Amino acid sequence: MFKSKSDSEISRRGMIKTLGLGLAFTTLPSYASSAMTEVSMDALDHGERIIPVEENELIEMQKFIEDCIAANKDSDPQEAVKEVLAKGVSNPTAMLKAIGEPTEAGLKVFLRSKELTIFAASWTPQMNLMPHNHHMWANIGIYTGREDNIIWRRSEKGLEADDVRCLFAGDVATLNTKAIHSVTNPLNRFTGGLHIYGGDFFATERSQWDPETLNEEPSNGEVIRNIFNKANEQMRRMKND
Ligand SMILES: [Fe+2]
Repeated sequence: MFKSKSDSEISRRGMIKTLGLGLAFTTLPSYASSAMTEVSMDALDHGERIIPVEENELIEMQKFIEDCIAANKDSDPQEAVKEVLAKGVSNPTAMLKAIGEPTEAGLKVFLRSKELTIFAASWTPQMNLMPHNHHMWANIGIYTGREDNIIWRRSEKGLEADDVRCLFAGDVATLNTKAIHSVTNPLNRFTGGLHIYGGDFFATERSQWDPETLNEEPSNGEVIRNIFNKANEQMRRMKND
Protein backbone atom coordinates (compact mmCIF):
# COMPACT_ATOMS: atom_id res chain seq x y z
CA MET A 1 0.00 0.00 0.00
CA PHE A 2 0.90 3.64 -0.18
CA LYS A 3 3.75 4.64 2.04
CA SER A 4 5.39 8.05 2.19
CA LYS A 5 9.14 8.37 2.03
CA SER A 6 11.29 11.36 2.82
CA ASP A 7 13.45 12.86 0.09
CA SER A 8 16.50 11.08 1.41
CA GLU A 9 15.05 7.60 1.59
CA ILE A 10 13.42 7.20 -1.77
CA SER A 11 12.87 3.66 -2.86
CA ARG A 12 14.18 2.60 -6.25
CA ARG A 13 11.59 -0.14 -6.39
CA GLY A 14 8.82 2.36 -5.77
CA MET A 15 9.90 4.72 -8.51
CA ILE A 16 10.36 2.01 -11.04
CA LYS A 17 6.97 0.59 -10.22
CA THR A 18 5.35 4.01 -10.36
CA LEU A 19 6.84 4.76 -13.73
CA GLY A 20 6.24 1.28 -15.05
CA LEU A 21 9.87 1.06 -16.06
CA GLY A 22 12.69 -1.35 -15.66
CA LEU A 23 15.24 1.44 -15.79
CA ALA A 24 18.50 1.46 -13.95
CA PHE A 25 18.35 4.02 -11.14
CA THR A 26 21.09 6.12 -12.67
CA THR A 27 19.04 6.76 -15.80
CA LEU A 28 16.18 8.36 -13.91
CA PRO A 29 16.04 12.15 -13.87
CA SER A 30 16.89 13.98 -10.67
CA TYR A 31 13.32 15.06 -9.93
CA ALA A 32 12.27 11.43 -9.71
CA SER A 33 14.67 10.74 -6.86
CA SER A 34 13.67 13.87 -4.98
CA ALA A 35 9.93 13.81 -5.41
CA MET A 36 8.61 10.27 -5.86
CA THR A 37 6.92 8.34 -3.14
CA GLU A 38 6.93 4.61 -2.80
CA VAL A 39 3.81 3.21 -4.33
CA SER A 40 2.65 -0.10 -5.61
CA MET A 41 0.58 -0.12 -8.77
CA ASP A 42 -2.22 -1.70 -6.70
CA ALA A 43 -2.57 1.61 -4.89
CA LEU A 44 -3.28 3.42 -8.17
CA ASP A 45 -6.76 2.13 -7.91
CA HIS A 46 -9.55 4.45 -8.76
CA GLY A 47 -9.72 2.11 -11.75
CA GLU A 48 -7.96 4.33 -14.23
CA ARG A 49 -5.84 2.53 -16.77
CA ILE A 50 -2.15 3.24 -16.18
CA ILE A 51 0.03 3.38 -19.30
CA PRO A 52 3.76 2.81 -18.67
CA VAL A 53 5.98 5.84 -19.28
CA GLU A 54 8.88 5.21 -21.66
CA GLU A 55 12.38 6.28 -20.65
CA ASN A 56 12.69 8.83 -23.46
CA GLU A 57 9.31 10.37 -22.53
CA LEU A 58 10.43 10.73 -18.93
CA ILE A 59 13.64 12.44 -19.99
CA GLU A 60 11.78 14.75 -22.40
CA MET A 61 9.43 15.79 -19.60
CA GLN A 62 12.13 16.24 -16.97
CA LYS A 63 12.44 20.04 -17.17
CA PHE A 64 8.68 20.55 -17.22
CA ILE A 65 8.19 18.37 -14.15
CA GLU A 66 11.02 20.04 -12.25
CA ASP A 67 9.48 23.42 -13.07
CA CYS A 68 6.10 22.24 -11.75
CA ILE A 69 7.70 20.99 -8.52
CA ALA A 70 9.42 24.36 -8.04
CA ALA A 71 6.23 26.30 -8.86
CA ASN A 72 4.28 24.21 -6.35
CA LYS A 73 6.40 25.78 -3.58
CA ASP A 74 5.06 29.26 -4.51
CA SER A 75 2.69 31.10 -2.15
CA ASP A 76 -0.06 30.48 -4.75
CA PRO A 77 0.91 27.02 -5.99
CA GLN A 78 -2.06 26.46 -8.32
CA GLU A 79 -1.51 29.74 -10.16
CA ALA A 80 2.27 29.23 -10.36
CA VAL A 81 1.86 25.66 -11.66
CA LYS A 82 -0.77 26.92 -14.12
CA GLU A 83 1.79 29.32 -15.59
CA VAL A 84 4.25 26.45 -16.12
CA LEU A 85 1.49 24.34 -17.67
CA ALA A 86 0.29 27.16 -19.94
CA LYS A 87 3.83 27.68 -21.18
CA GLY A 88 4.24 23.92 -21.67
CA VAL A 89 1.12 23.46 -23.80
CA SER A 90 1.59 26.76 -25.67
CA ASN A 91 3.53 24.61 -28.11
CA PRO A 92 1.16 21.62 -28.28
CA THR A 93 3.15 19.92 -31.05
CA ALA A 94 6.31 19.87 -28.94
CA MET A 95 4.37 18.62 -25.89
CA LEU A 96 2.73 15.86 -27.94
CA LYS A 97 6.14 14.80 -29.23
CA ALA A 98 7.52 14.69 -25.67
CA ILE A 99 4.62 12.68 -24.25
CA GLY A 100 3.98 10.53 -27.31
CA GLU A 101 0.91 10.10 -29.53
CA PRO A 102 -2.01 8.66 -27.57
CA THR A 103 -2.89 5.14 -28.63
CA GLU A 104 -5.34 4.08 -25.89
CA ALA A 105 -7.42 5.56 -23.10
CA GLY A 106 -5.36 5.84 -19.95
CA LEU A 107 -2.99 7.81 -17.77
CA LYS A 108 0.77 8.21 -18.08
CA VAL A 109 1.86 9.10 -14.57
CA PHE A 110 4.94 11.35 -14.61
CA LEU A 111 4.90 12.29 -10.95
CA ARG A 112 3.13 11.14 -7.84
CA SER A 113 3.96 12.72 -4.52
CA LYS A 114 2.00 13.87 -1.48
CA GLU A 115 2.11 17.44 -2.80
CA LEU A 116 1.71 17.01 -6.53
CA THR A 117 0.44 14.56 -9.14
CA ILE A 118 1.18 14.98 -12.84
CA PHE A 119 -0.18 12.72 -15.53
CA ALA A 120 -1.05 12.81 -19.20
CA ALA A 121 -4.61 11.59 -19.75
CA SER A 122 -5.65 10.33 -23.14
CA TRP A 123 -9.30 9.96 -24.13
CA THR A 124 -10.39 7.78 -27.04
CA PRO A 125 -12.74 9.30 -29.68
CA GLN A 126 -15.99 10.45 -28.03
CA MET A 127 -15.08 9.05 -24.62
CA ASN A 128 -17.02 10.38 -21.61
CA LEU A 129 -16.19 10.45 -17.94
CA MET A 130 -19.01 10.91 -15.43
CA PRO A 131 -19.14 13.85 -12.97
CA HIS A 132 -16.52 13.44 -10.26
CA ASN A 133 -14.54 15.55 -7.81
CA HIS A 134 -10.89 15.54 -6.73
CA HIS A 135 -10.80 17.22 -3.27
CA MET A 136 -7.71 19.16 -4.38
CA TRP A 137 -6.99 21.85 -6.93
CA ALA A 138 -6.52 20.71 -10.50
CA ASN A 139 -5.07 22.30 -13.63
CA ILE A 140 -5.73 20.83 -17.08
CA GLY A 141 -3.74 21.72 -20.20
CA ILE A 142 -4.61 20.24 -23.59
CA TYR A 143 -1.86 19.33 -26.06
CA THR A 144 -3.90 17.48 -28.68
CA GLY A 145 -7.60 17.26 -29.56
CA ARG A 146 -10.32 18.85 -27.47
CA GLU A 147 -11.75 18.24 -23.99
CA ASP A 148 -15.19 19.56 -23.08
CA ASN A 149 -15.72 20.06 -19.36
CA ILE A 150 -19.10 20.49 -17.73
CA ILE A 151 -18.65 22.08 -14.31
CA TRP A 152 -21.35 20.99 -11.86
CA ARG A 153 -22.51 22.46 -8.59
CA ARG A 154 -24.42 21.03 -5.68
CA SER A 155 -27.91 22.48 -5.19
CA GLU A 156 -30.97 21.66 -3.12
CA LYS A 157 -32.24 19.60 -6.05
CA GLY A 158 -28.98 17.71 -6.35
CA LEU A 159 -26.26 18.23 -8.92
CA GLU A 160 -26.77 20.98 -11.51
CA ALA A 161 -24.71 21.92 -14.56
CA ASP A 162 -23.15 25.31 -13.82
CA ASP A 163 -20.55 26.09 -16.45
CA VAL A 164 -18.89 24.73 -19.57
CA ARG A 165 -15.27 24.92 -20.61
CA CYS A 166 -14.29 23.72 -24.07
CA LEU A 167 -10.56 23.23 -24.10
CA PHE A 168 -8.63 23.07 -27.36
CA ALA A 169 -4.94 22.34 -27.83
CA GLY A 170 -2.99 25.04 -25.99
CA ASP A 171 -5.82 25.86 -23.55
CA VAL A 172 -5.55 25.56 -19.77
CA ALA A 173 -8.33 25.32 -17.18
CA THR A 174 -8.18 25.57 -13.42
CA LEU A 175 -10.51 23.74 -11.05
CA ASN A 176 -10.75 24.64 -7.37
CA THR A 177 -10.64 22.11 -4.54
CA LYS A 178 -14.43 21.76 -4.47
CA ALA A 179 -14.93 21.48 -8.24
CA ILE A 180 -17.06 18.73 -9.75
CA HIS A 181 -16.62 18.11 -13.46
CA SER A 182 -17.44 15.65 -16.21
CA VAL A 183 -15.31 15.27 -19.30
CA THR A 184 -16.04 14.51 -22.94
CA ASN A 185 -13.83 14.12 -25.96
CA PRO A 186 -16.21 15.26 -28.72
CA LEU A 187 -13.78 14.43 -31.54
CA ASN A 188 -13.35 11.38 -33.73
CA ARG A 189 -9.73 11.23 -32.72
CA PHE A 190 -7.74 11.14 -29.50
CA THR A 191 -7.58 13.95 -27.00
CA GLY A 192 -4.53 14.29 -24.78
CA GLY A 193 -4.18 16.60 -21.79
CA LEU A 194 -1.80 17.14 -18.91
CA HIS A 195 -3.61 16.95 -15.59
CA ILE A 196 -1.87 18.37 -12.54
CA TYR A 197 -3.24 18.08 -8.99
CA GLY A 198 -2.22 19.77 -5.78
CA GLY A 199 -1.91 16.54 -3.82
CA ASP A 200 -1.75 12.76 -4.21
CA PHE A 201 -4.58 12.17 -6.68
CA PHE A 202 -4.40 8.40 -6.30
CA ALA A 203 -4.54 8.28 -2.50
CA THR A 204 -7.66 10.44 -2.19
CA GLU A 205 -11.17 9.13 -1.71
CA ARG A 206 -13.50 10.90 -4.09
CA SER A 207 -17.11 10.95 -5.24
CA GLN A 208 -18.59 10.19 -8.61
CA TRP A 209 -22.11 10.86 -9.85
CA ASP A 210 -24.17 8.47 -11.98
CA PRO A 211 -24.40 10.19 -15.40
CA GLU A 212 -28.14 9.51 -15.71
CA THR A 213 -29.54 9.82 -12.18
CA LEU A 214 -26.81 12.15 -10.87
CA ASN A 215 -26.80 10.17 -7.65
CA GLU A 216 -23.58 10.62 -5.68
CA GLU A 217 -21.55 7.53 -4.85
CA PRO A 218 -18.01 6.85 -3.64
CA SER A 219 -15.56 6.71 -6.54
CA ASN A 220 -15.77 3.15 -7.73
CA GLY A 221 -12.65 1.59 -9.26
CA GLU A 222 -14.68 -1.13 -10.97
CA VAL A 223 -16.95 1.38 -12.76
CA ILE A 224 -14.03 3.58 -13.85
CA ARG A 225 -12.06 0.53 -15.00
CA ASN A 226 -15.03 -0.51 -17.16
CA ILE A 227 -15.23 2.96 -18.73
CA PHE A 228 -11.57 2.79 -19.75
CA ASN A 229 -11.82 -0.82 -20.94
CA LYS A 230 -14.98 -0.18 -22.94
CA ALA A 231 -13.51 2.96 -24.50
CA ASN A 232 -10.47 0.95 -25.63
CA GLU A 233 -12.61 -1.94 -26.92
CA GLN A 234 -14.84 0.49 -28.82
CA MET A 235 -11.81 2.11 -30.41
CA ARG A 236 -10.43 -1.25 -31.49
CA ARG A 237 -13.81 -2.15 -33.04
CA MET A 238 -13.91 1.20 -34.90
CA LYS A 239 -10.41 0.54 -36.24
CA ASN A 240 -11.44 -2.89 -37.53
CA ASP A 241 -14.66 -1.65 -39.20
FE1 LIG B 1 -11.23 15.03 -13.09
